[in-house]
Amino acid sequence: MKLLKVTSILFFITGLLWSPVPMALGQDQSKQNPIGTIKEYRIERSVSEDAAECIECHAKESGGIVADWAGSRHAHVNITCLDCHGASPADSDVSKDHLQYDKTRISGIVSPRDCSRCHPTEAAEYNRSKHANTLEIIWKIDPWLNDGMNNEIERVTGCEHCHGSIVKVVGGEFDASTWPNVGVGRINPDGSRGSCSSCHTRHKFSLAEARKPEACGQCHLGPDHPQIEIYEESKHGAIYHAEGDSWNWTAAPGTWTPGVDYRTPTCSVCHMSGVSNVPTTHDVTERLAWETQAPLTIRPNEFKPYPAKTDWSQEREKMENVCLSCHSENWTKGHFARFDKAVGNYNDNYFKPMKKLIEKLYEKKLLSKDKDLDEELEIDMYELWHHEGRRARFGAAMMAPDYTWWHGFYELKKRCMEIEEKAEHLLQSQKPAKVFDVKGAGGDTTHEVEIIQ
Ligand code: HEC
Ligand code: HEC
Ligand code: HEC
Ligand code: HEC
Ligand code: HEC
Ligand code: HEC
Ligand code: HEC
Ligand code: HEC
Repeated sequence: MKLLKVTSILFFITGLLWSPVPMALGQDQSKQNPIGTIKEYRIERSVSEDAAECIECHAKESGGIVADWAGSRHAHVNITCLDCHGASPADSDVSKDHLQYDKTRISGIVSPRDCSRCHPTEAAEYNRSKHANTLEIIWKIDPWLNDGMNNEIERVTGCEHCHGSIVKVVGGEFDASTWPNVGVGRINPDGSRGSCSSCHTRHKFSLAEARKPEACGQCHLGPDHPQIEIYEESKHGAIYHAEGDSWNWTAAPGTWTPGVDYRTPTCSVCHMSGVSNVPTTHDVTERLAWETQAPLTIRPNEFKPYPAKTDWSQEREKMENVCLSCHSENWTKGHFARFDKAVGNYNDNYFKPMKKLIEKLYEKKLLSKDKDLDEELEIDMYELWHHEGRRARFGAAMMAPDYTWWHGFYELKKRCMEIEEKAEHLLQSQKPAKVFDVKGAGGDTTHEVEIIQ
């Protein structure tokens, strides 16, 4: 590859935006933009001729992409389009179509393996996380998939948007049922797992964006995992909304400091960012002492489909250390003592007794074990742990009393009444429950993930 000492490229992108400061990275005050007419990007630096060609043509073809990239840390440190999109002839995801525009081989997909060339630590942590491995996990345990209870289009437009797809390339083109996709556990054509752009959207790859709760709230919301709503309800979230605009979101990695750069934690602070003696992590299972999304709450190392290699008491200590940067020991210990009791209350007084009752109905063949989620009581039991049971536990973990009680324990009580009522009816009538037939809305039960492994 030829390296030009200084390649001067001048781009003009017409638009209505006016910027008082020239957008040039190598700033030249004498060439300021005429007000209100054009926005100018001047990239003057050492890049190879091949890399310069991408920028030049794409400034015309897709100005928005070049503008985002030009404002990123990557552009500032000379990381170009080619560094991320460049592909070798052996790669299965080379775009055949693109060869008509440029002789250099490129791919539209940039996988964690591509990022790992320069960010090995983040990529390794992410690679072992539940985020990156979620397709394997859900195919091991999920009844919608394993019993064929939903169909392809429901999965593609629903589950896979958040969890990720298995990206397929057919004849040099992406298969539209698997692409585009930026789900956390996407399986890429190079075999790597995940998508860094789930949280760092291209082409700014901004730290500020990932540190804000909205980055997580795109997936962590709704009846079964309302973490963003829970955060909104908490005092932490209220203060974020009141004052967040004035916080310093762009502090360099490892220097983002509680009390100095921000006053209350976001999702990233508690789960990922480096805080005092707790290092930054891209494995979100760290700092957790429970599996509060599971039917029966267990420890992370007891989660059979993907046992964590962590010791829950050490992880609890890490989470407590995050709190201790702003709170006292008493405040922090008091919070966790109450959370742990709420977990016990859910396990012992709601989940276990109802599970026992449902098992009795299976034994007496009043419910059928054939498929899950096709009988009303199965849906009731599912919602008990998957909806209100999670909300009660998450609300208690993350300081949201409305979720703990009104959307949580209150709804649990109501659900138990309904389950007992319906169970009694079946036991009295001795007539098996009605089985719902999903007909055309049923789906494939092939474990593609295992085929790929
Ligand atoms: C002469 C113009 C030209 C050059 C040079 C060029 N591209 Fe493109 N590129 C295009 C056009 C046109 C498209 C298609 C845009 C569309 O589909 O709307 C495209 C598409 C792409 C895509 C999306 C592919 C996909 O499958 O979605 C990527 C990534 C890309 N280019 C990267 C690059 C890189 C990296 C380089 C430099 C090695 C480069 N381009 C050089 C014109 C060019
Ligand atoms: C730091 C790595 C990185 C750099 C640098 C980079 N890209 Fe990308 N690009 C990505 C990622 C990630 C995606 C999203 C695809 C994915 O999730 O794998 C993407 C997607 C694209 C797409 C398809 C997006 C769409 O919405 O259709 C185009 C086109 C593209 N990039 C062009 C460029 C051009 C042109 C440059 C240089 C100005 C560039 N990229 C620089 C990582 C990068
Ligand atoms: C060729 C090397 C290279 C590749 C490939 C690369 N990066 Fe980077 N990245 C860098 C460098 C260098 C920095 C700047 C570090 C600094 O500011 O000290 C950076 C910074 C970042 C930052 C911090 C931005 C900020 O605001 O401080 C993020 C996030 C990031 N990269 C994500 C990604 C992702 C995601 C990919 C893959 C899609 C990727 N990078 C691919 C070299 C690379
Ligand atoms: C809006 C995004 C979104 C959609 C759509 C979605 N999920 Fe999830 N799913 C999540 C999140 C976030 C979690 C993590 C829950 C937690 O830990 O609080 C999760 C958790 C799970 C789990 C539990 C994993 C574990 O470790 O125990 C399974 C199984 C699952 N989802 C399957 C599915 C299936 C199957 C579909 C489609 C029928 C689906 N999800 C649709 C976001 C989504
Ligand atoms: C679940 C969301 C999420 C995903 C997925 C994710 N990141 Fe990050 N990333 C973050 C957050 C949040 C931060 C900010 C941490 C902090 O406060 O410094 C960050 C920070 C970074 C930084 C700056 C270093 C630092 O310590 O802050 C780099 C580089 C980076 N990520 C690269 C990647 C790469 C590469 C991938 C894919 C392998 C990836 N990220 C996937 C959320 C994510
Ligand atoms: C694109 C969707 C998506 C985004 C964005 C996302 N997550 Fe997740 N998250 C998931 C899914 C899906 C799971 C469930 C994985 C599983 O257990 O199979 C999950 C699980 C988790 C877990 C539970 C891990 C465990 O061991 O049980 C935590 C904690 C978490 N995410 C935190 C975050 C944080 C913090 C952010 C933002 C910085 C974030 N997530 C962004 C989809 C997402
Ligand atoms: C004040 C700190 C704090 C904030 C802010 C916070 N969390 Fe949490 N989160 C926790 C604690 C503590 C737990 C329970 C940890 C345990 O298992 O002991 C938890 C549990 C979770 C879980 C359940 C993991 C599992 O599988 O049991 C998910 C998912 C999650 N948080 C995501 C998020 C998201 C997304 C946000 C932002 C919208 C967020 N959290 C904001 C502290 C926080
Ligand atoms: C960056 C500083 C910071 C961190 C880190 C932090 N908090 Fe807070 N927290 C605050 C502030 C500020 C308030 C508001 C205090 C007030 O009401 O005067 C608060 C409020 C609270 C409240 C009161 C909620 C209410 O509605 O009354 C609880 C409980 C709490 N935090 C627990 C925690 C726990 C547990 C952690 C760690 C998982 C944590 N905090 C991490 C700053 C922080």
